[in-house]
Amino acid sequence: MNNFDFYNPTRIAFGEGKIAELDKLVPQDAKVLVLFGGESARRTGTLAEVKSSLGNRQVSEFGGIEPNPSFETLMKAVAQVREQNVDFLLAVGGGSVIDGTKFVAAAAVFEGDEWDILLQGGNNIKRALPFGSVLTLPATGSEMNKGAVVTRKSLKAKLPFHSDLVFPQFSVLDPTKTYTLPLRQVGNGVVDAFVHVVEQYLTYPAQAPVQDRFAEGLLLTLTEIGKQALVDPENYEIRASLMWTATLALNGLIGSGVPQDWSTHMLGHELTALHNLDHAQTLAIVLPSMLRERKAEKLDKLVQYGERVWDIRDGTPEERAEAAIAKTRNFFESLGVKTRLSDYDLGESDIESLIESLESHGMVALGEHGDITPDVCRRVLQASL
Ligand code: NZQ
Ligand code: ZN
Repeated sequence: MNNFDFYNPTRIAFGEGKIAELDKLVPQDAKVLVLFGGESARRTGTLAEVKSSLGNRQVSEFGGIEPNPSFETLMKAVAQVREQNVDFLLAVGGGSVIDGTKFVAAAAVFEGDEWDILLQGGNNIKRALPFGSVLTLPATGSEMNKGAVVTRKSLKAKLPFHSDLVFPQFSVLDPTKTYTLPLRQVGNGVVDAFVHVVEQYLTYPAQAPVQDRFAEGLLLTLTEIGKQALVDPENYEIRASLMWTATLALNGLIGSGVPQDWSTHMLGHELTALHNLDHAQTLAIVLPSMLRERKAEKLDKLVQYGERVWDIRDGTPEERAEAAIAKTRNFFESLGVKTRLSDYDLGESDIESLIESLESHGMVALGEHGDITPDVCRRVLQASL
């Protein structure tokens, strides 16, 4: 872990009432496009609060960004940006709206076919419009990172891209804005943040004790507050902890200088692209089986995880690893997020098309060793029935 870059320019305004700071955060002369999802931002009053904080600036709106944002919808926003000469974007919503805004920021000034941004994973982004976000759903970490995932419905393809040019300039995190979330989205958010930490932590020992301790702190916090966030939705301290934990889970800090394994996310994306499952549902299905499949390669870290996060101290390393995986599955289930393909009416006959799709997206050498092949993923899905 000796050599690494850690760069994160996103400014965070955290706490109740912080939307009022938009007046300072957005340039005075900006021509702003506010992007949002379905109707939740309007219904909850967050959109009105945002617009009032923007004062006399020229502001237009683009609504209708769906969960798992689609290229097709986002290209309509791109057209609006070009037509109206917008020069600043403001995302108001969850990960889908923020991811979608990242794509719009890059695509609006892209020369060439905008889908190439996804095909090249963002390597071809040379410029992007500046943007900020107002987060309403703690889960993805998109509010403080440079990644996004976009779905092209017509191709049934859900692909990620990354670029230093799509870090948000700022993100407003007001925990009270999460009070209106449906419980399903709260459970999803806890699972997503948990899996983000796991995929940067549960690999092999890398002489990175502080990254490990940070990761374990985030995991422990999620196990402590996850259930409470569901049963006590207007508890400010709990929602604030959840929001900050989810942000820290994927802002680059804990992943700096250590091996990472994003195989669960990549296989999960295929489940969403083909069967429209929520992002976190796909992770809850795949992760426990992936950990079992990779038990030998991950044994040292599984034992460490079991001991430090779940207090598992007895048994052989193999037994302790099994117990840690069982705890993980039970945790997801306790949050109301089901962990079996059959829970979502999927079965054996759905597996082959998922594997083909994974292959067609070039996801053939996943994991911290690059040895999670489509065959391994097939076994993982079979174990998830
Ligand atoms: O569309 P509206 O009406 O706004 O409703 C949304 C949506 O239906 C609703 N919602 C959001 N805030 C609300 C609210 N409802 C009531 N009150 C509020 N305060 O919640 C629903 C889900 O929203 P969405 O943004 O889709 O959820 P999430 O934040 O979980 O984002 C998921 C997307 O992020 C991507 C996923 O793949 C998926 O496309 N990810 C992005 C990552 C990144 N950029 O780093 C990392 C993640 O691994 C993830 O892949
Ligand atoms: Zn995720």
